[in-house]
Amino acid sequence: MKLSRYLASLGYGNRRDVERLCAEGRVTHRAGRRLAAADQATHDDILVDGEPLDMPPGMVIMLHKPAGFVCSTSEATRLVYELLPARFLRRTPVVAAAGRLDRDTSGLLLLTDDGPLNHRLTSPRTHLPKIYDARLAADLRGDEGATFASGTMRLEGEAGALCPATLDVLGPRHARLTLTEGRYHQVRRMFAAVGNHVTALHRSALGPLSLGQLPSGEWRVLGDHELQALRDAFASAGRPPFSVPRSAP
Ligand code: URA
Repeated sequence: MKLSRYLASLGYGNRRDVERLCAEGRVTHRAGRRLAAADQATHDDILVDGEPLDMPPGMVIMLHKPAGFVCSTSEATRLVYELLPARFLRRTPVVAAAGRLDRDTSGLLLLTDDGPLNHRLTSPRTHLPKIYDARLAADLRGDEGATFASGTMRLEGEAGALCPATLDVLGPRHARLTLTEGRYHQVRRMFAAVGNHVTALHRSALGPLSLGQLPSGEWRVLGDHELQALRDAFASAGRPPFSVPRSAP
């Protein structure tokens, strides 16, 4: 692929912007020579303004979403995309959130430009465990764990029973809930169904991935070992392994 087209796909501007970057000598080969818009080079050899390129196609990032941000591209409120470099939003294919967290939920959110991976992460048939930390308005009664684990619980307006979920009580009004599905507002609706109210909700883990020490509002690229752990988790859930492309121009 021509350099101009490749850099445009990574969000460095439209084709004309990239041609200008090249004409100004701001796009160089790692070995030092200037690159022209029509040249071809491998991803890792290309520098723009002396800096290595952003991640190649197939990037997967983890964002520590703060409460108050929406996982959408078009709502008239603060969007999670504000927390990422503007160039990511100009990439083709687009960088999209894999599933959603409510505006008032904080925690681990994956974003990727890999459509098949996104699909797999969000498919209802992919039962990756998701761990939520919930603060509650009222004391737990003691029977919630059995109800959530039963596999027969139904949410209002839904015909199908929920998959069994695991509740760990961390305090009178504090619980950890592990789900293997992702229905609309599921945690909040589950607690509402047992007479409680979630006052704060945080997702700390998704399958083999956890936020670790990533500060709120920050993001990082998933490492190779994390991508492998995700592949293994899909494989053990009976899903075919995905491939993360690493294409070069
Ligand atoms: N359940 C909810 O209620 N909200 C979320 O954001 C995620 C799970």
